[in-house]
Amino acid sequence: MPPAKPAVGVLTSGGDCPGLNAVIRAVVKSSERLGYDCVGFLRGYEGLVEPVSYMPLNARNTAGILTQGGTILGSTNKGRFAATVGEDQRVRIDPTLLDQVAATVRQLSICGLVCAGGDGSLAIAQQFHERGIPVVGVPKTIDNDLGATAFTFGFDSAVDCATDALDRLHTTAASHERIMVLEVMGRHAGWIALHSGIAGGGDVILLPEIDWTFENVCRKVLERESEGKRFTLVVVAEGARLPEGGLVTAGTGGAREQVRLGGIGEIVAAELGRRLLREVRTVVLGHLQRGGSPTTFDRVLATEYGAHAVRLVHEGRFGEMVCFRPPNMESVPISEAITRLSRVDPARSIVLAARALGISFGDDAAASPFAAGRPAAAPA
Ligand code: F6P
Repeated sequence: MPPAKPAVGVLTSGGDCPGLNAVIRAVVKSSERLGYDCVGFLRGYEGLVEPVSYMPLNARNTAGILTQGGTILGSTNKGRFAATVGEDQRVRIDPTLLDQVAATVRQLSICGLVCAGGDGSLAIAQQFHERGIPVVGVPKTIDNDLGATAFTFGFDSAVDCATDALDRLHTTAASHERIMVLEVMGRHAGWIALHSGIAGGGDVILLPEIDWTFENVCRKVLERESEGKRFTLVVVAEGARLPEGGLVTAGTGGAREQVRLGGIGEIVAAELGRRLLREVRTVVLGHLQRGGSPTTFDRVLATEYGAHAVRLVHEGRFGEMVCFRPPNMESVPISEAITRLSRVDPARSIVLAARALGISFGDDAAASPFAAGRPAAAPA
């Protein structure tokens, strides 16, 4: 049954992450208080087109979801709407699909559609906006690579997971005097590797944004050994480039899919073992980083995002994405948000602090604790 009153629609798109349900709950609660009905579309943007699939949402059927990982609405990042393919190349969505979305929105009296997604999903929302469909965006991704906002929700939970893994690897690495390599997600941004590497006491952090060499990583291992530390923790971002300049991919995906990154951890471990003749082990954390309950920070952030998104709908400010500019929530045009991707700046204080502690980024700046690293080439 279509809702009787104007309804706020909500959907979750792209890779899931902790905090999606907190956004949904906040959208539902704040919509109801403003007198709107609420409708959740299933499996991301796919739910908006034939066969249209949605569920009415209310305080009762969203009770208790704040703490749950995943998304009660489901998600997809491989559907018919892909607006980003290959190595982050933008494409236009089939106009007949956009017409179908506009029809669904009309038929269900949707006065505003809240789309929680990363840059690829928000690129879809932008095309909705250009077609006249009333959308607002919420910045979701564990990668934290949207430059318009201080933090995307999901990032803190992913960092927490990677930090916990490092804590566990620390003790076994020390017991067996091994080198442990932890590969973490993040696509072309090194935020998860950087934050977890610092929080988990990593010795070497390899990022997409800083060129590194095996010689420098080996030097750090040997330096530690000369100090009596017979184990080393290496954190490597999945999007870090090998010294010869290549990304390591786990598959090319289909013609309309993005390239899947992964596998650099094994390569780093094999090469360190070969060069140093030490025992090296690899852990690929993978989707564990995207599962589980959101951290306190992500619960609060996602709740604020959801509430602010409904406020944008209520005020008719479509085509905007909510963003966190501490201490307040603000908004920016989605068009701007998807073109301002955020990478680790080697001159940032967090990188300098890590260097000051002796953490190596595998680059030549290691000898000079406060020197900013050389930025790596941008992804092809
Ligand atoms: O963008 C989030 C993310 O988890 C990336 O860090 C990772 O590269 C990618 O999604 C994995 O995607 P999939 O779940 O499709 O393998």
